[in-house]
Amino acid sequence: MEQNYDAYTAEDHQNWSILFDRQNKAVLHLAANAFRSGFLQLDLNPHRIENIPVRNITMKQKFGWQLHPVSGLLPLDEFLNLLINKEFPVTVYMRRKEELEFSELPDIFHDLYGHAPMLASPVFSEFISRYAEIAIGYINDPEAVEYMSRFYWYTMEMGLIEEEGKLKPFGSAILTSAGEMENIVSPDVPKRPFDVDDVLNAPYDSFNLQTQYFYLQSFEQLFDALGTFRQTLQNKAFATK
Ligand SMILES: [Fe+2]
Repeated sequence: MEQNYDAYTAEDHQNWSILFDRQNKAVLHLAANAFRSGFLQLDLNPHRIENIPVRNITMKQKFGWQLHPVSGLLPLDEFLNLLINKEFPVTVYMRRKEELEFSELPDIFHDLYGHAPMLASPVFSEFISRYAEIAIGYINDPEAVEYMSRFYWYTMEMGLIEEEGKLKPFGSAILTSAGEMENIVSPDVPKRPFDVDDVLNAPYDSFNLQTQYFYLQSFEQLFDALGTFRQTLQNKAFATK
């Protein structure tokens, strides 16, 4: 679909600007180094919603990725195919004023502020497309889909990494949510060292604050986990195959 840029209202741009300012003050300095570096390279407009076609003029050359405007959540095969082709789906919807604290569904702020900076990390962005290449072979198996969702959830959305002795978020659902940012520093919420088997066996609830997180030592560790991920999907069987 196209992003109908002229359809954004003054209030939409204002909502973008409010969120941008708030997250920059509250969150950016706490984020993972790769996220902050990508954020600086991306240099998003703080005052107005990004124009995706204009942004795409330089995206490919700078990051090797394109942004692909979508109206909402996609069928899994379409979603994974975009990632394989290094096209990152960006929801064009801008959340309303009453959703500033919590938006149940992804919006353009979540996708651009939260996800796009990590595309600048060569190892992480390669991880995303390799993940999708593996996952797409198993989309007809509900059990496999659950595993691939967990892997995505605890990394792309809720991932932490240990840097300079601190646990820093790179997951976009943390970086675009005030509630999750508070939650990750709570001593009552377990933070577990990343282990792909543990992640694949950890159910999650996307509508409430998380009850656990996983933290990486490096993004190479995540990339290396793809081998186990592939093996697990193969072994689980999938009686239908
Ligand atoms: Fe997301």
